[in-house]
Amino acid sequence: MSKKGTLVGVVVGLVCLGIVFVAARVVAMRPASTVKAGQIPPGEYDPAVWGKAYPLEYKSYQKNLEMSESPTGFGGSLKVQHSVKEPEILVNFKGMVFSKDYSEDRGHPYAVKDLMETKRITPKSPGACMTCKTANLIDIYKDKGWVYAKTPLAELFPLMKHPIVCANCHDPSTMNLRVINPAFIEAMGRRGVDVSKASREEMRSYVCGQCHVEYYFEPETSRVILPWDKGLHPADMYAYYEGKPGGFSQDWIHPDSETKLLKAQHPDFETWNNGVHGKSGVSCADCHMPFMRDKGQKYSSHWVTSPMRNVEASCHPCHNQSGEWFLDRVKTVQNNVWQLQHTAGLTLSRAHEAIGKAAMRKNADKKELDKARELVRKAQWYWDFVAAENSMGFHNPVQTLNVLGQSIDMSNQAVAAANRAAGSVF
Ligand code: HEC
Ligand code: HEC
Ligand code: HEC
Ligand code: HEC
Repeated sequence: MSKKGTLVGVVVGLVCLGIVFVAARVVAMRPASTVKAGQIPPGEYDPAVWGKAYPLEYKSYQKNLEMSESPTGFGGSLKVQHSVKEPEILVNFKGMVFSKDYSEDRGHPYAVKDLMETKRITPKSPGACMTCKTANLIDIYKDKGWVYAKTPLAELFPLMKHPIVCANCHDPSTMNLRVINPAFIEAMGRRGVDVSKASREEMRSYVCGQCHVEYYFEPETSRVILPWDKGLHPADMYAYYEGKPGGFSQDWIHPDSETKLLKAQHPDFETWNNGVHGKSGVSCADCHMPFMRDKGQKYSSHWVTSPMRNVEASCHPCHNQSGEWFLDRVKTVQNNVWQLQHTAGLTLSRAHEAIGKAAMRKNADKKELDKARELVRKAQWYWDFVAAENSMGFHNPVQTLNVLGQSIDMSNQAVAAANRAAGSVF
């Protein structure tokens, strides 16, 4: 063969190889093959019944009951109190329920049990608290509309027969993915997104985004609202809250600094959305519900846990570095974030204390004190936005470190303003 012929042969070969590779990738990313829909009667929420039709998915769902540490040393599903490692929590959440009980989250089947057991709620807590814990929300919302949100939680407990189960994410008649939380549907609607028209790819994140997000309860109605009208960055949400939406101006007032504070709630979806994976269209399910095989049959893992338990399935469809390399990458990001998160939390505690001491001075400068409170309010929101997020920064390392840096700076500025207010150095 001539040199030219060899070259053409090589090029053709490479092109063929490329096509085979792309085709293999596409097949690898395709949904599991045989899903027989229409086997589940509407209104059936018991996952064991769904499990008879979909045994592989059910078997992996049952693994959510297992409890163990995460391989990274962060997260995991053991019910440990965050304040053991982060005592600053006790200062920063003083005067509110998160200083009494703030334990690590665990698997979806525990959602109702953990809600009933947490010291954060009382029988008088609003029904809104159950929005993200049970599939029975479907009927409760159908019956009562948003009135359920104001109904005392204790009245709704008997109706909460199942935790987070198949029906939270699947329409039983088609098995298509669906979102049942009205707050998510409304918030996306205000952003111009019709969730009922979302693509399958988008739904692979929206089903999680219906719960793993920041929210607040509207004061009069207890209605659940996601503060996304100005965007999903913590600065956008802070700006939204500054408008006192529906008369909402704080979750509680800190007893020392007398500052009106916001409590951030697990903004996993928002943090992921602005990160490299979110921006590249990599969905929550890609990492947390990877495709598996059982005797040649392909299915999505329904063990929704740390992807680092199975790097092979979770990361290797798109990356080819070793499992060890990934564990090291993820841990490096998390250690860096943890260090700054802890510093931000401690600096914030100092700011609350300094403002509290300054305010006790008879002739404290009111203007400087107000300035200090404004700074500490924002510093707390920025710190908590990261502390309440579940991935210790992995979902978006760059934004997370930036937000923590800003928090530390604002807390230090708050201390300086408190010092000026009192004319001392605390
Ligand atoms: C937290 C949301 C969530 C819950 C809860 C859930 N699923 Fe899924 N399920 C998904 C996602 C995401 C997919 C992937 C769908 C896709 O890519 O189209 C999926 C896919 C499936 C499929 C399609 C085949 C496959 O494995 O990809 C079946 C069948 C299924 N789930 C059954 C169940 C059953 C049975 C339960 C309850 C035991 C359940 N699911 C609970 C989110 C959920
Ligand atoms: C109906 C609301 C809801 C939906 C839908 C939902 N989650 Fe959760 N998720 C929760 C709650 C609540 C907890 C904490 C449960 C507890 O600690 O009792 C949790 C816990 C978790 C955990 C921690 C598990 C552990 O073992 O530590 C992970 C990971 C997780 N969810 C990821 C996801 C992903 C990914 C999706 C979408 C495929 C999703 N969740 C959909 C509400 C939800
Ligand atoms: C690129 C992969 C990837 C994507 C996409 C992703 N995550 Fe994660 N997630 C991770 C990793 C890695 C961790 C850290 C796990 C650890 O520390 O063991 C994590 C941690 C979590 C945790 C805490 C788990 C625990 O053990 O407590 C939750 C909850 C979670 N992610 C939810 C989500 C949600 C919701 C989305 C989509 C909005 C999402 N993740 C998108 C990789 C991903
Ligand atoms: C569906 C595809 C997909 C999956 C699954 C996936 N990634 Fe990625 N990952 C990407 C893309 C796309 C990028 C952007 C850079 C690029 O193109 O390589 C990226 C980038 C990264 C980066 C560099 C981040 C940065 O800030 O530049 C790390 C680290 C990473 N991924 C870790 C993981 C880990 C850990 C997992 C498994 C838990 C995972 N990825 C799963 C597609 C994926």
